[in-house]
Amino acid sequence: MTHPTIDQRDAWQALAAHAREMRTTHLSELFTGAPGRHAALTRRAAGLTLDLSKQRWRDETLDRLLDLAREAEVPEAIRALLAGERVNRSEDRPALHTALRLPPEASLMVEGEDLVPSVHATLERMAAMVERFHAGQWRGATGRAIRDVVNLGVGGSDLGPLMVTHALADYRPEGVHTIDVHFASTMDGSQLADYLARLNPETTLFVLSSKSFTTIDTLSNARTARDWLIARLMGENREEGVDAELVMRQHFIGVSASPEKMNDWGIAEEHQLEFWEWVGGRYSLWGAIGLPIALVVGMAHFRELLAGAHAMDRHFSEAKLADNLPVLLALAGIWNVNFLDIRAHSILPYDGRLEFFAAYLEQLEMESNGKSVTHDGDEVGYSTCPVLWGQLGPNAQHAFYQLLHQGTQSVECDFIAPKVRYDDVEDPATRDHLMGQHRLTLANCFAQSRVLMLGDEAIDEDGPRPVHKRYRGNQPSSTLLLDRLTPATLGALIALYEHKVFVQATIWDINPFDQWGVELGKKIAGETQRILEHQADIADMDDSTRGLIEAVWAAERG
Ligand code: F6P
Repeated sequence: MTHPTIDQRDAWQALAAHAREMRTTHLSELFTGAPGRHAALTRRAAGLTLDLSKQRWRDETLDRLLDLAREAEVPEAIRALLAGERVNRSEDRPALHTALRLPPEASLMVEGEDLVPSVHATLERMAAMVERFHAGQWRGATGRAIRDVVNLGVGGSDLGPLMVTHALADYRPEGVHTIDVHFASTMDGSQLADYLARLNPETTLFVLSSKSFTTIDTLSNARTARDWLIARLMGENREEGVDAELVMRQHFIGVSASPEKMNDWGIAEEHQLEFWEWVGGRYSLWGAIGLPIALVVGMAHFRELLAGAHAMDRHFSEAKLADNLPVLLALAGIWNVNFLDIRAHSILPYDGRLEFFAAYLEQLEMESNGKSVTHDGDEVGYSTCPVLWGQLGPNAQHAFYQLLHQGTQSVECDFIAPKVRYDDVEDPATRDHLMGQHRLTLANCFAQSRVLMLGDEAIDEDGPRPVHKRYRGNQPSSTLLLDRLTPATLGALIALYEHKVFVQATIWDINPFDQWGVELGKKIAGETQRILEHQADIADMDDSTRGLIEAVWAAERG
């Protein structure tokens, strides 16, 4: 017997009816005569404060959304995720990123094995490597200490470490040999070429980060890096006994779930960090893929990042649905996408350290939930992941906020900021200026969400306003305040979004842990490359692609 799909369930139908009433309610009306709205719709956990009062919903809406979460068996799904059940059904495996941040004294038995000891064994291997770098003891083939580390990876093997190292750059440990960490992800080699032009091969090491170790973007960068090192180091130092094997051993670390492929590529066994198939690429920054993070902030801060994420995991597991931050953030999204028909979502951090947070979330949310087939293989009859994008809020104010304020699209926004910054700057004059700049930034953050909510009502002006100066408001938003931006609160923030994605996937009945949609593109790119390289016949190609390939050939011929 087929069971009813989520949109056929009572709770969904009740929400659809309720949404018809709410569609004509302007957000500003929800604040009229409701002085306690902020307090009633704000929740705290793990150093984060989530204000959901600017969502276009009432108490009744939230009650019904909580009914929907219960009908979709969200509590059971949370338990199954954290217990290591095979929630990634299309790949028949668990999704256990939460195991990577369990404390050493914990235990997690999954299919007869306690995973915690092997998780911590990998962390200890990472710690030993980091210590060697920070002691200036990791030496290149010519004996000089490594100073620059370039992470070669893409997607989850790039975005998480890139985002976190940027966010926590203030947390570099003192008194250690400095390692500058760089990231090259693009297959066109442009980022890598830039590093090769300015880095010293004697003191540069590459981390090949690839769960599968088959990703062409990363492997093509890796080949270029290998040839650069060998040509530069062996060419100049052959007499000193510098050979290719030594270069490979001292200048490459591999991080992957496939030790065989790392061996085949020539990564020395002692310089391999392995992780597990049950860690999804976009959920992998918490373990060996986080090596660049640990190189920048040190192992102690890396462990604080894990502890912050673990605090959010515990909150997710223990808090009741009505107080559960990931659940509430997910329900706000479901309400907007499925019932208010708002299919765009903007991520707007008001802190330059979070420059790459939106890019990170673009993969986390859209690669996870950009799906249209249920667990049972049926087409969904409702919208799933919205189009999600963003950038630093203060810069976005001078770019796309015009559309948020006066365009024709409804957009949900997440405003993210730390409450306090710069109070630890030593020089009092600079500290005062910088704290003032932070308050200016917060003022902009709060003002923007206010105008987006209230529209013209936010403006204290008499008399009629010309149409082109009017703001309609009514754009819903959530505001997330971090007590401060620390390794622990950043860990909690990332885990909050990971779990939000999972709750939404549970309600939409889709698998957030696979990404079959990107596989076809990779396969077809390989075939197209063979044609471009004259190794396969162009005859079967569609007319448009044939025209583009021929244009390239004509340009190459000059
Ligand atoms: O884009 C597809 C994808 O598989 C992502 O899910 C992943 O993060 C990225 O490629 C990189 O994969 P890998 O770590 O295996 O190189």
